[in-house]
Amino acid sequence: MEFILTQSSVSEYSGPAILLPVLSEGALPAATQTIDEKLNGFISQLIENKDLKGKPGETLVIPQANGPRLILIGIGKADGKTSDFVKSVQAAANALKASAADEAAIDLSGITVNTKDQHWINRQLAQAFQDSLYHFDECKSKKDDAPAISTIKSLTVVAENQYQSDILFGQAVAKGMAFCKKLGDLPPNVATPSYLADEADKLASLSGKLTTSILDEDKMEELGMGSFLSVSKGSIEPGKIICMEYKGGKSGDAPHALVGKGITFDTGGISLKPGAGMDEMKYDMCGAASVLGTMLTIISLDLPINFLGVVAAAENMPAGHASKPGDIVTAMNGTTIEILNTDAEGRLVLCDALTYTIETYKPASIMDIATLTGACMMALGGVNSGVFTEDDALAQEILDAGQSSCDPAWRLPLQDEYQELLDSNFADIANIGGRLAGATTAACFLSRFTKDQTWAHLDIAGTAWNSGGKNKGSSGRPVPLLVNYLANKLG
Ligand code: BES
Ligand code: MN
Ligand code: ZN
Repeated sequence: MEFILTQSSVSEYSGPAILLPVLSEGALPAATQTIDEKLNGFISQLIENKDLKGKPGETLVIPQANGPRLILIGIGKADGKTSDFVKSVQAAANALKASAADEAAIDLSGITVNTKDQHWINRQLAQAFQDSLYHFDECKSKKDDAPAISTIKSLTVVAENQYQSDILFGQAVAKGMAFCKKLGDLPPNVATPSYLADEADKLASLSGKLTTSILDEDKMEELGMGSFLSVSKGSIEPGKIICMEYKGGKSGDAPHALVGKGITFDTGGISLKPGAGMDEMKYDMCGAASVLGTMLTIISLDLPINFLGVVAAAENMPAGHASKPGDIVTAMNGTTIEILNTDAEGRLVLCDALTYTIETYKPASIMDIATLTGACMMALGGVNSGVFTEDDALAQEILDAGQSSCDPAWRLPLQDEYQELLDSNFADIANIGGRLAGATTAACFLSRFTKDQTWAHLDIAGTAWNSGGKNKGSSGRPVPLLVNYLANKLG
């Protein structure tokens, strides 16, 4: 899809659709007013009759015999909330997608969003329209009619150049999200650890600044990654640790690292999960998918930053050679771990990936992203991802990145007082902490492997995908948060 900024007016546009904003109170925005006058007050009449209230997310399509269809979009209050604005443009994009138009003009002149500037509006607009085109029919024998929106013309009153980079940014974020969603939505017999490794290599072929190195199980054995291997050994799919080194910044600068949980299917292992809804555990690699998606965005924007993406990929299966509750394994950093529940496998693969990343690349900061606990999902639902770190400045950076990208996160506690819940009678630590504070004890476990590092953990169990029904699918989150977090490092 081409997203073009043009300095012109709705009255000059003669394509198949015009998207026009309507507020929930007061006067019509400029462009809508122009068309309303042309139609002798027809839009004002619709509003008076309450056919349209202007609420965020509301849309009304008006076909015209001789002219473009008008798609009225509710925007809510003037200078409203960011979340309302995003809801409105998403609804607008979906209404356009549902219409027969393959092109449209949109004019949001005069629309402002509380605390945000025009650059933010442009980014969100481009992101929402690009994102609305995501479509997964890879596995259908008969393809659906894919949405075919070729061009969006955003009509502005200011010189276009000033905002062109915002459009590129928004579209690049949506393309990273689409890649993340696709990896999540692919079935677990396709999206295996080896498949993720191949996808990383494909990314490397897109940019001369990106190189990959992939650790196989033999190499992990050599490095003493007993914790990671205790998970992957239960599966016939070989585990992989995928390292993607993007060097866009100064050669001496330490990279910022993101480490994604890539459990390509989580049965729970010998601590087998119940059958209902187990298919959704194909999404247990969404942390990894978000790292790959973020890498795609960083490459397309050619960001001048040193960024390291690491994926810890394995399948968690029950088998004769799988780990059992009670097994004790030794992690790469020497810590012995009593596996009391084989379903707490994410932390077992992540801890060795974290140790390896820290020792090998000495990153400036490191964040892991994981669908780690049902407890985090219970606490925060599908709205916020959970942030855990003892570093207040880093926490603030992550929360700010989430806020500005409308991909929000909420800080949850990580304090020494919780650490003793991981005590084991037989090893240095247990891999679970009992019934209480499950999201925090998982973070405590990871903290044992990130001492003296600027580190944060992002639990995306509730935000990485939408469950059940027609909406079921990967959400592409937290790609927007991660891209903004990295872009903000540039100052
Ligand atoms: N992948 C799951 C966490 C999860 C559950 C994510 C549901 C999204 C939805 C993780 O590997 C897991 O099984 N965690 C256990 C930990 C427990 C055994 C301490 C959980 O949350 O129940
Ligand atoms: Mn599990
Ligand atoms: Zn899992």
